[in-house]
Amino acid sequence: MPTVSMTVNGKSVSGDVEGRTLLVDFLRNNLSLTGTHVGCDTSQCGACTVLSIFCETIFHLQEPMWAAIPASAAPVPFTSMAIP
Ligand code: FES
Repeated sequence: MPTVSMTVNGKSVSGDVEGRTLLVDFLRNNLSLTGTHVGCDTSQCGACTVLSIFCETIFHLQEPMWAAIPASAAPVPFTSMAIP
């Protein structure tokens, strides 16, 4: 079971998750951050959208990249990132 680490709302967090765990489930179930909701579960309604910054070292970017992503479509191990 992989351990993931990220920054959420300015705090460093980590947790052991199954490889298929979605970011929305990690936020809601592991971190008790229930402001992120599951609505359509098809990435169309925006209820699960989180603002994130992708790390340049992991994704080989020139600089950090901000993006709004649907947390119900993002597996946690993919999302080594910071949610401000
Ligand atoms: S649940 Fe609708 S966009 Fe994520």
